[in-house]
Amino acid sequence: MNITFIGPPGCGKGTQAALLSRRTGLPSVSTGDLLRDAVARRTHLGIQARSYMDQGLLVPDSIIMGLIEEVLMSPEAQGGILMDGFPRTPAQAEAVDRALGARNARVDAVLRIDVPEDDLVQRLVGRAREQGRSDDTPETIRQRLAVYREQTAPLVAYYEDRGVVLDIPGTGTVEAIAERIGTALGL
Ligand code: AP5
Ligand code: MG
Repeated sequence: MNITFIGPPGCGKGTQAALLSRRTGLPSVSTGDLLRDAVARRTHLGIQARSYMDQGLLVPDSIIMGLIEEVLMSPEAQGGILMDGFPRTPAQAEAVDRALGARNARVDAVLRIDVPEDDLVQRLVGRAREQGRSDDTPETIRQRLAVYREQTAPLVAYYEDRGVVLDIPGTGTVEAIAERIGTALGL
């Protein structure tokens, strides 16, 4: 199965992808984590991506496309993959379709995790205290939320037409949400 998590910053994509990965054995890949790693290692990709990330903006498709193709073509992804935080734009969704289509696969489920905005901000401010992620500042959090609403949320319509969107209420305990995801996927 190829499953993608779509939801605003702080909705729990990373948390739930890790749990679902343990449950299903499918690898989970986050473009955000890959980009943060590239920034830390000061690779060409990292140098290009950094200022966008620090401003809470999407890294341009022209930069992300190669990364997505690399992830989906990798041997680990051939048996299915959990996509945490991608695709995020229509062009990325088309790139995912092309890469999966090349091996007669498709996006089987889109998990849309919904959490009220006040809760999101509270979670991210909490994480900033614990982990110090450079884009977890109040101003950048607001920008990331706006970017999600404007650029990524509309993408759900692309998948709704195919009937693969599963709506997951994202408040409650981590375990309760994992249970909802398992039920929605028929696990
Ligand atoms: P990315 O790393 O994807 O960040 P994001 O979408 O802003 O989401 P987060 O990782 O902040 O939140 P999450 O939904 O994973 O929640 P988490 O489980 O951590 O992207 C970062 C940046 O990289 C982007 O802004 C962009 O610049 C760039 N980028 C990445 N992918 C891109 C792409 N495809 N195209 C272009 N640019 C891209 O949970 C959050 C916190 O809440 C944690 O502390 C967690 O412990 C806590 N928590 C989780 N669940 C619960 C719960 N049920 N109750 C209470 N607390 C909870
Ligand atoms: Mg994340």
